[in-house]
Amino acid sequence: GDTITVADLAQKLALKGGEVVKALFKMGVMATITQSIDHDTAVLVTEELGHRAVRASEDSAEDALLAHVEEARGDKQSRPPVVTIMGHVDHGKTSLLDYIRRTKVATGEAGGITQHIGAYHVETDKGVISFLDTPGHAAFSSMRARGARLTDIVVLVVAADDGVKPQTIEAVQHARAANVPLVVAINKIDKADADPTRVKTELMAQEVVAEEFGGDVQFVELSAKTGQNIDALLDAISLQAEVLELSAVVEGRATGVVIESALDKGRGPVATVLVQQGTLEKGDYLVCGVQYGRVRALFDETGSQVDKATPSIPVQVLGLSGVPDAGDDFVVVDDERLAKDVAQQRDAKRRESRLVAQAGNRMEDILAQM
Ligand code: GTP
Ligand code: MG
Repeated sequence: GDTITVADLAQKLALKGGEVVKALFKMGVMATITQSIDHDTAVLVTEELGHRAVRASEDSAEDALLAHVEEARGDKQSRPPVVTIMGHVDHGKTSLLDYIRRTKVATGEAGGITQHIGAYHVETDKGVISFLDTPGHAAFSSMRARGARLTDIVVLVVAADDGVKPQTIEAVQHARAANVPLVVAINKIDKADADPTRVKTELMAQEVVAEEFGGDVQFVELSAKTGQNIDALLDAISLQAEVLELSAVVEGRATGVVIESALDKGRGPVATVLVQQGTLEKGDYLVCGVQYGRVRALFDETGSQVDKATPSIPVQVLGLSGVPDAGDDFVVVDDERLAKDVAQQRDAKRRESRLVAQAGNRMEDILAQM
């Protein structure tokens, strides 16, 4: 039957060759890392090392994962919009996000000081809105890479005293390419030299046309400094969301994406994720990029523990084996074994491609020295 070298097996298991040699030795099999072992021995030693042997196809665990995600899904229900703020340097993106966070995030049991996590949600009388606190461009690159939509609506911030600038135009182009609608926030209207009409005219040249000029883009004139008209912006976002008829499956295992992650000294790996489908609950097993784990605790943006998170709601997850990358997908699975297998297989693959890349580099070094 099939054979595999000890070195190849070690690589697939993301272990050092010596560890596999040692495990084989314990089983009474003498082999060096360059020698081949047969299929049955490979399965035995794999299980001896605490992994589950996965047959033939390299992607079988991924396939099982996909099947897992597809099954047991309920009906779609409406979900809140996920909003990203974009705009030119210094036009007030951070100020706007901070103002909304400071004044609109419901303060939790932790005492009201909101932590700076990469996303938050607000409850308005017109519904919930989630804001991603990532540079707009990053959210879009991640969307492009995943071919999935992370943002439903872009709030384009344009300073009324500065007008349309290169990054304003770039943001318009990003949103248009991704087919994401804009709501324009004309900011800094508290300033003496604010000229909102100029902004509207300049944006018209980019084919972003305000309703009052016969277009379909909502414009809100506001100040992130004084808070004037921020509520009108939230209303405009809710209205835009209604038009989009956003929906997601709420019942069932969650899937979503990592917005940011870090290694916390006391709490271990911490990932802020955005749930996109299903409900993420405390105690769930999940695969997250090349990491896996069981959700030990969930926190909202105020630092309060929550039991679950539904679609479009960002939440901090504790309990992962390691720190995932921003942009990684996560999937809840029923079975810890499957979670671990998928994560390890992905990790092995990643190492493999890194080794190939390194070998390539070394080859180039050698050639350069010749
Ligand atoms: P970058 O992240 O550097 O691209 O900038 P930003 O778009 O996040 O702008 P930021 O919120 O940092 O604001 C830039 C400057 O404009 C800061 O000094 C703010 O205090 C000021 N600012 C923001 N919004 C307003 C506003 O509505 N009115 C006035 N007067 N100043 C504002
Ligand atoms: Mg900023």
